[in-house]
Amino acid sequence: MAINFSLYYGSPENRDYLEKVINSSRQGALVEVKPLTELPEQVNSGTNVIFLDYQADRPELDQWIRKTAADHRNPPIFLYLQEITTEHLWKAMRLGVKECFAYPIQAEEFQEALERLPLFPVEPEPAEATRLVAVLGCKGGVGTTFITVNTAYLLAQEDRGQILVVDLDLRYGQMAYFLDVKPQYTLVEVIENVGHLDHSYLQSLFFQYDKNLQLLPAPLRLEDSEVVSPEQLEKVLNYLKKLRAFRMILVDAGHQLDDVTFKALELADEVVLVTSQMIPALSNTKKLLELLQLLGLGNIHLQLWVNAWQKQGDLTLDDISEFLGRDLAGAIQYDFKEVSRSINEGIPLAKSAPRLGVCRDLRGLADSLGGGLRKEEKRSRRSLGIFFWR
Ligand SMILES: Nc1ncnc2c1ncn2[C@@H]1O[C@H](COP(=O)(O)OP(=O)(O)O)[C@@H](O)[C@H]1O
Ligand SMILES: [Mg+2]
Repeated sequence: MAINFSLYYGSPENRDYLEKVINSSRQGALVEVKPLTELPEQVNSGTNVIFLDYQADRPELDQWIRKTAADHRNPPIFLYLQEITTEHLWKAMRLGVKECFAYPIQAEEFQEALERLPLFPVEPEPAEATRLVAVLGCKGGVGTTFITVNTAYLLAQEDRGQILVVDLDLRYGQMAYFLDVKPQYTLVEVIENVGHLDHSYLQSLFFQYDKNLQLLPAPLRLEDSEVVSPEQLEKVLNYLKKLRAFRMILVDAGHQLDDVTFKALELADEVVLVTSQMIPALSNTKKLLELLQLLGLGNIHLQLWVNAWQKQGDLTLDDISEFLGRDLAGAIQYDFKEVSRSINEGIPLAKSAPRLGVCRDLRGLADSLGGGLRKEEKRSRRSLGIFFWR
């Protein structure tokens, strides 16, 4: 599929150069070429990317960029800069720019930027409120990240609005590996700009994995985890909820119950607590449930899921439920080979092998969080089936 560019240039030399870059890329095609003095009020509706030969000393240009980027019906903006400095990058990001380039533009670098583009235009805000779900592990290694990534993927496939998945395992977040992606920005950039958040700016920080799934990864460096405070996280999550740009936000809360995780649990509409069939995990789960009670979170909506469940294991689901003194919401089958393969390949199992038992169980979890078809959708699909059958 061609990616259509509108090119707005400052000098004829730069125009010729950028035309060459676009035309020699795999999918790039030019639909409009104009000088910066003729920037349109309304961008050509067939344009997929705006490529702008940036000039730093023109405030009216910044204004045009800001206005164009803020309207999410418009395509993403690429800038061609004289030179790339940290100051330029921050400025561009604040204006809502998607990518920045300087001379010489490497073909590979340009191609990667094209592959990072959202596959489809961003959807308008859904009417429904955004649900915030926190997935918490009772200990490390129980499958919290595997479950979060796959549940988010399944919910996104329903095509009922954007799903944002946030990696809040601040020190050891691995979500990007589970999806085999290299996002440019992380939670650190969001937190550092907590004072001036806006929709288009945030949009440029999130990594669009596919049509309906966006990712905000954990900090890359161990020391950066310190940047995130509970107050800042609260601001970001509240802002995101208020935006109503997402149907659901799923947070991988890891397994350490620190101030930041606690804040995420406090703000969540629903918490999924992941445990396993092993005694150490169950004893942790019991402690954790007691601790939540003590910390005043005894009344949060909490679903208890057993991961890596084996029928022939020593403990039955009833034993587990009795030990914890709580009903279980469900169990996700054990499948060492398939789960390991999907993690190592960086492809959600729900994508590569959706018919497996594990994925059926994950579907159950997604449904319990508000996924699946709504009643009226089920009814209308059923009646459509009857219509065609006749
Ligand atoms: N349902 C499952 N069946 C078999 N192995 C699983 C299952 N879920 C997770 N695992 C394994 O558990 C390990 C830890 O998973 P991960 O999601 O990283 O856990 P956590 O985020 O809780 O530390 C992975 O290597 C994965 O292969
Ligand atoms: Mg994890």
